[in-house]
Amino acid sequence: MPEFKRYMVTSALPYANGPVHIGHLAGVYIPSDIYVRYLRLKGKDVISVCGSDEHGVPITLKAKKEGVSPQEIVDRYHNIIKKSFIDFGIAFDIYSRTSSETHYKTASDFFKYLYDKGEFIVKTTEQYFDTQENQFLADRYIKGTCPKCGYEEAYGDQCEKCGSALNPTDLINPKSTISGVELTLKNTKHWYLPLDKHEPFLRKWILEDHKEWKPNVYGQCKSWLDNGLQPRAVSRDLDWGVPVPIKNAEGKVLYVWFDAPIGYISATKELTSDWEKYWKDKETKLVHFIGKDNIVFHCIIFPAMLKAEGSYILPDNVPANAFLNLENDKISTSKNWAVWLHEYLEDFKDKQDVLRYVLTANAPETKDNDFTWKNFQARNNGELVAVLGNFINRTLVLTKKYYDKVIPLPDKINEADISVLEKILKTKKDIEENIEIYKFRDALKAYMNLARTGNKYLADNEPWKLIKTDPDRVRTIMYVAAQITAALAILGEPFLPFTSEKLKKIINFENTKWEDVNLRITKANHKINEPELLFDKIEDKEIEYQINKLLKTKEENIKNDVEPKPIKEIISFDDFQKLDIRTATIIEAEKVPKTKKLLKLKLDTGIDKRTVVSGIAEFYKPEEIIGKQVQVLVNLAPRKLKGTESQGMILTAENSQGKLCLVSPEEKFENGSAVS
Ligand code: MF3
Ligand code: ZN
Repeated sequence: MPEFKRYMVTSALPYANGPVHIGHLAGVYIPSDIYVRYLRLKGKDVISVCGSDEHGVPITLKAKKEGVSPQEIVDRYHNIIKKSFIDFGIAFDIYSRTSSETHYKTASDFFKYLYDKGEFIVKTTEQYFDTQENQFLADRYIKGTCPKCGYEEAYGDQCEKCGSALNPTDLINPKSTISGVELTLKNTKHWYLPLDKHEPFLRKWILEDHKEWKPNVYGQCKSWLDNGLQPRAVSRDLDWGVPVPIKNAEGKVLYVWFDAPIGYISATKELTSDWEKYWKDKETKLVHFIGKDNIVFHCIIFPAMLKAEGSYILPDNVPANAFLNLENDKISTSKNWAVWLHEYLEDFKDKQDVLRYVLTANAPETKDNDFTWKNFQARNNGELVAVLGNFINRTLVLTKKYYDKVIPLPDKINEADISVLEKILKTKKDIEENIEIYKFRDALKAYMNLARTGNKYLADNEPWKLIKTDPDRVRTIMYVAAQITAALAILGEPFLPFTSEKLKKIINFENTKWEDVNLRITKANHKINEPELLFDKIEDKEIEYQINKLLKTKEENIKNDVEPKPIKEIISFDDFQKLDIRTATIIEAEKVPKTKKLLKLKLDTGIDKRTVVSGIAEFYKPEEIIGKQVQVLVNLAPRKLKGTESQGMILTAENSQGKLCLVSPEEKFENGSAVS
């Protein structure tokens, strides 16, 4: 592996169209933070950048939905998102935004440079147009079926299911997401990045030089490359975004996926005048942390842009994660199916590390994974409290009790002690090796195993018993336990920064570095501070509260799910004329025995008196509907329902939750009147 002099770490810029939730943390920001904290502890030269992605259709759609300006949306969410990251200890060197002046200039200059260099092709093509909204439909303004995988909700620029980059004209059954009108086609001019031209380079760079990329990332890239790359439009007909910086391009802005990744560069520029070293020197290791829906943009399109420009380095790795689900359902901002970070902190104050821990332990590193509140509780109570917290607390409390908070001088050190001390070094190495290949779950496992070792060591040696009979041995035991505790404080920093800081304060061990983790970390005679608990139990009622909150969301969604059923096949007027629908009065009503849904009704139809069976028993009591007027289809062939012959059908309307309501004449009306 080549040695790098410095690291440039980027984390996907979240769209400023909503707050951030646990899926964002688990997929991108916790892994990136673990990586960066680890590198910093190792004393490496590293810059970590992020910021809000403030352009593109996700923003304008949200603004439209709320009836406010896009600017209002991005200002609101930029601040909420930024605060959540700070609150959770996600330690970016800068959290910028793509509306910044530096970014506008950097993105415009980048485009202009490629334009002048002849790296684009210009094409005028027919694109979908919405005549009602008077605009072209690109990106998330248009949805349809993905031609690659058949997913029915694919966007105009990408299918989020299979990750493929798409054009609106690739979609099968395209539909406007902003109006219901039929789409028309209209000519428009755009600038295209000829990905096909860069394909041979990308093939070699990824498929030959980066075989070490995660299988999901490598595999996706391979399949796109094998299918052949097409030129990709990098401009749009929109009024929100960075204007295309050339003549005769009025009304055109840069495609959000052209400008946003350049945001990484802009943010670095805002941070340091030394930015070029981090983006252009071959001895810099560039790493992009992203979610799996961003792979094509970070592995194919952005590298092609950087390559076309010519002076930039390309990513060394793109550790993309899969998605986190919540209680077995896809996390969704629009459906409010999420655990929002700012809300979590209202309910679990100062428990950032618990969430960080659970999300790392369950990180969707190789496949989609599920977050459940029960698992959250189990991991807190069974692992953080019972293993890590328990070991450290025992050590601190006994050190206080036996030695007045001073680490004792050890007596003879036996083989068991040595093997435990060696475990510290082994753990350190395990964590390093795993973090360096982006396996954060395994790194965390190794860390927790050290706490387990500590717990077992105390349980096996029982210092609380020996203190009466063999106090010399107890000095050694407590000395060894103190070494493990100090190692846990330092090695835990990337994963549990708040806990690590608190513990370092307690053991009077601040300003430590990764390399301080040795066989002997703390010295005898070192005085520690007052012990404090690091974790506490999460009670059932706190979990029930969260689960109920989600259940309420589910109910709300069902209520609001007003998506009307698709219209049935068109029929002719003659078809309609065949239906004989009459006004009738219910004169008798009773439940059909042994059924839940059926009522047997006797109707006066004006022509005759007849029996009709209807599935309305869940909504109407027999005694309540006698005397009501209804509309009844009288020429429906009779059919037997649960043993009773039904001679016709009364009309009902059914809403989205399956509730039925009788269709009745607007005023008291003569029985037998025909509906037409
Ligand atoms: N906003 C995009 C998303 O949430 C990510 C942008 S990453 C960048 O999917 F590279 F474009 F910045
Ligand atoms: Zn697809």
